[in-house]
Amino acid sequence: MAEFKEAPAGASALTQATVWLENRFPTAFDAYRVHMSEYYAPKNFNWMYFFGSLAMLVLVIQIVTGIFLVMHYKPDAATAFASVEYIMRDVPWGWLIRYMHSTGASAFFIVVYLHMWRGMIYGSYRKPRELVWIFGCAIFLALMAEAFMGYLLPWGQMSYWGAQVIINLFAAIPFVGEELAILIRGDYVVGDATLNRFFSFHVIAVPLVLLGLVVAHLLALHDVGSNNPDGVEIKAKKDSRGIPLDGIPFHPYYTVHDMLGVGVFLMAFSAILFFAPELGGYFLEYNNFIPADPLKTPAHIAPVWYFTPYYSMLRATTDVMVNWLVGLTLVGGVLAILLGGLSARGKVAIGIAAVVFAGLLKTFDAKFWGVVVMGAAVLILFALPWLDRSPVKSIRYRPRWNFWLYLVFVVVFLVLGYLGIKPPSETGTLISQIGTLFYFGFFLLMPWWSRIGEFRPVPERVRFQAH
Ligand code: HEM
Repeated sequence: MAEFKEAPAGASALTQATVWLENRFPTAFDAYRVHMSEYYAPKNFNWMYFFGSLAMLVLVIQIVTGIFLVMHYKPDAATAFASVEYIMRDVPWGWLIRYMHSTGASAFFIVVYLHMWRGMIYGSYRKPRELVWIFGCAIFLALMAEAFMGYLLPWGQMSYWGAQVIINLFAAIPFVGEELAILIRGDYVVGDATLNRFFSFHVIAVPLVLLGLVVAHLLALHDVGSNNPDGVEIKAKKDSRGIPLDGIPFHPYYTVHDMLGVGVFLMAFSAILFFAPELGGYFLEYNNFIPADPLKTPAHIAPVWYFTPYYSMLRATTDVMVNWLVGLTLVGGVLAILLGGLSARGKVAIGIAAVVFAGLLKTFDAKFWGVVVMGAAVLILFALPWLDRSPVKSIRYRPRWNFWLYLVFVVVFLVLGYLGIKPPSETGTLISQIGTLFYFGFFLLMPWWSRIGEFRPVPERVRFQAH
C-alpha cells in the first residue's frame, strides 16, 4: 500500500477531506492527473476539436433523457404509440424530454460526422492512432444500430415500415438470409417480438457497448496523445521534465476552451428543440405521427437523414450498376496486370481474382450487392489508416488540389444523403450511381492519389498564435 499523506497543519476542511479521499482512493486521483491536469494536448487545437467533447455531451443527454423516457414508455405493440403520445401530452415536461432525445439522435450524428471529418482532414487516423480510429469506427457502427433500433420504438408508420424494409434487406443474403431476417424480427413480419428485442438492445445492450467503446477510444487516444491541425507529433520535442514543448494541460486549458463549443452547441440545439423539433420532417418524419399499420404501406419509405447517404448507395446498386462493376473489375484487373509491375505469379493471381469476382457479381442479384455496397461503405472506413500513403498527415501540407478533392467528397456525401430522402427517380439513380462510384473510388484509389502531387514541408513545431 502507498504511504499515507498528511494534510499540512492548519489546512482547510476541504484540503483535509481531499487528503483523506486521496489516501483511500489514489487511483481516482492518478486518473485525474493522467487524463486531465497532466494530459498534455497540443496547444494549436481549433474549433474542429470541439466535436469529441460534444459527442460525449450528447451521449450523456441521450442516456439521461432515455432513462426518463423509459419510466413512461411501454414496449408493447398495442400500447407503444399511445405511451409516446402520453409522454408528449400528459407527463409533466415529457414533451421536452422526448424532443431532447429525438433531437439528440440527429445532433449525435451531426457531431460525430464532423468529428470523423476532422480526423480525416488532419490524418488523425494515421500511425500511431490507428486504434483510436478503429474504436471510433466501431462506435459509429454501434451508434447506427442504436439509432435504427430506437426508431422502431415510437411504433409509428415510419418506425414500422422502415424496420420492415431494412430487416428485409438481410433476407437478400444468399443461403442464410431468410433465417437471419426471422432471427432479427423474432417473427415473420415486424411485430411485438421485434419491438421487445429492439427495446432491450436499445436501452441496455448497445448503450453498454457504446460506453465501453468510448472508454477504449479515449484510453487509446491518451496513450498515444492527440494529433492536431498541423499533424505534428508534439511528443517528439520535450522539455527537461519530459513535457511536450507544444503541449498544454488539458485541464484547465481545454476544459475552458470546450465550454465555448458547448455554449454554441446548446444554443443551436435549443433553437431546434424549442422552435422546430421535427425540423421540417428531417429529424422526426411526419409519417411517424401516424400509428403503425401493418396493412397500409406508406407511399414513400425513407430512413432518417443520417442513414440516407448509405441508403442511396443501396438503391444505386441496380442491375445496370452491377454490369458496370463487372466491367470495372475486369478493366481494373487488366490494368493491374499490364501496369502494376507484378511478378508472373502476381499477374495470374490478380487475373483469377478479377474473373472470380466478376463471376460472383453476376451470380447473385443486384439487391444482395446493394446490401454489400451499403455495408462496405461503412466498413471501408476501418481500412483508412492503411489506405492513406501520403508522406504528411494534415491537409495543410498536402497538395492544394487535395482540398478540392475532400470538398467534392463532402458534396457527394451530402448529395447522396439528399437523394436517399427523395423517392427514386431515373436521374436520381444515375447521380447516386456516380456518387457511389466516387465514394468508393476516393477510398480504394487512395493508396495511389494520396502519394502524388507537391507536398509542403511540415514544420518541426506546431503553428500557433496566442489570441
Ligand atoms: C460517441 C462517439 C464518440 C465520442 C464520445 C468520441 C470522443 C472523442 C474525444 C473526447 C476525443 C478527444 C477530443 C477530440 O479530439 O475531439 C476524440 C478523439 C478522436 N476521435 Fe472520437 N469520439 C466518438 C466517435 C468517433 C468516431 C465515430 C470516430 C471515427 C470513425 C472517432 C475518431 C477519433 C479520432 C481519430 C480522434 C483523435 C483526434 C486527434 O487526436 O486529432 N471518434 N474522440
